[in-house]
Amino acid sequence: MPLIPEPKTYPIIGHIPYLSKGFGGCLIDSFDKLHAQFGSIFSLNIVGRKWIVCSDPLIMKKALIENLAIFPKGSTLEAAHSLEIGKSGLTETEGPDWINQHKLLKPFFMQKSVHSTFIQIQQVMDKSIIYLNINKELEILDFCNRVSFCFMTKMSSSYESNCLNNIKNIDPLFKLQSHVVSQFLNRVKYSKYSKYIPTISNILFEKRLSEYRKFFKKIIHNFEQNNSHSEDVILYHLINGKYGERKLTENEIIDQLYTVIGAGYESTGATLHWLLYELSKRQDLIKELRNEIAIYGHYSNWNSEIISKCELLQITLLEIFRLHPVFPVLVREVASDIEINNFMFTEKAFVFFNTGQMHTDSFWGEDAKLFRPERFLEKNNIEGYKEHFFPFGIGPRKCIGEKMAKSELAVMIMRILIEYDLELIPGQKIIPFQSLTRVSKNGIKMKFTKRSIS
Ligand code: HEM
Repeated sequence: MPLIPEPKTYPIIGHIPYLSKGFGGCLIDSFDKLHAQFGSIFSLNIVGRKWIVCSDPLIMKKALIENLAIFPKGSTLEAAHSLEIGKSGLTETEGPDWINQHKLLKPFFMQKSVHSTFIQIQQVMDKSIIYLNINKELEILDFCNRVSFCFMTKMSSSYESNCLNNIKNIDPLFKLQSHVVSQFLNRVKYSKYSKYIPTISNILFEKRLSEYRKFFKKIIHNFEQNNSHSEDVILYHLINGKYGERKLTENEIIDQLYTVIGAGYESTGATLHWLLYELSKRQDLIKELRNEIAIYGHYSNWNSEIISKCELLQITLLEIFRLHPVFPVLVREVASDIEINNFMFTEKAFVFFNTGQMHTDSFWGEDAKLFRPERFLEKNNIEGYKEHFFPFGIGPRKCIGEKMAKSELAVMIMRILIEYDLELIPGQKIIPFQSLTRVSKNGIKMKFTKRSIS
């Protein structure tokens, strides 16, 4: 049986030095560099633990579709679980719990419900357009996160965030969410045990966590008072739907809201900022996108049918998902020894399925690192691209919000393009970097000029 190739090990410290070779210590960059040396599967020894890095789509398919039970998230969830919030949310459960939650949430994410959220996206975009009118030059990652956060809180719980009211306004929930994310990243970097050290940041975090829960309780209460019949909001399904044979408890509802908002807002915000960035370098494409949607009249008429008919818009989204996947790695832990394609995956090994690498592999040709949506119109790519394209994951644990993210992004980007001309502020170095999502390390500054729309 062929062994999974392994770089030469440094005595005692194992492969740690290999991981610091990426730009600024970025793990994904290190993986990509090792890929160039060792190919589509290799193994590292990190403090006595085996890490298998795989960018072979066929192996990934066999693992995450045919053998899902042997490739759970497992102990990769420890850092998230140590936060004491979200533990019973869809992104963090497995087995029968996950099945029950998926059943509960799936109806909301079907195309019909996604269709009805168009009004909510448009309302958020009305606010975003005013925000841009006041702040004509701005850092777009922050802006896109605000836009996406406003939409996520609105459609998940009818909560109206004030993030877009004023550049200085940071919604209390937005602030709390950022604290939880930064604690999570700390625990991934250092250790879940770091929470037991009585540092000021840990003590403050406990306090914020309790504020966070209180805030969500208030949101749930307000929803029950004012909007309890609104089926277009996830909270309605969480309160009224069945979880197995029972209803969800209040804490479980909070966990669910937290994970859905967490999974949906930074991912969409980061993708929107990459879209604005790449399009600002393709003014010809912007013109064509505007012309394509113009035949359907005023933006208030847009719906999912119209959006799906806009081919150029669809391939532009595909290309941004390909070139800038915001979750370029799917992480799992092997539950028991298994052989796949003659390679042995041993129990307890961490596996990093490097989908970002698959998005630029030899299938995509020599210009794979370029933003060129037109590639999806070329015969070969249309036929085979799905075998090398996993921006929303793969198998049963694929992103539940994929359809929603696509319509959301389509409306967001087209509303901005219809109402504004965009321009990159010159002299910036744009460096992709992995935080919770893959974003630009120092943000991106852009100028927006209002268009006169006849
Ligand atoms: C461009 C936007 C998005 C991208 C690229 C994206 C990508 C992904 C990926 C790759 C996964 C799988 C992770 C894994 O297998 O480890 C995932 C899972 C998930 N996503 Fe998304 N996502 C996006 C937007 C959204 C939105 C808008 C929502 C909710 C409204 C959402 C909710 C979720 C949830 C709940 C899961 C966990 C599913 C499960 O474990 O069953 N995502 N997403």
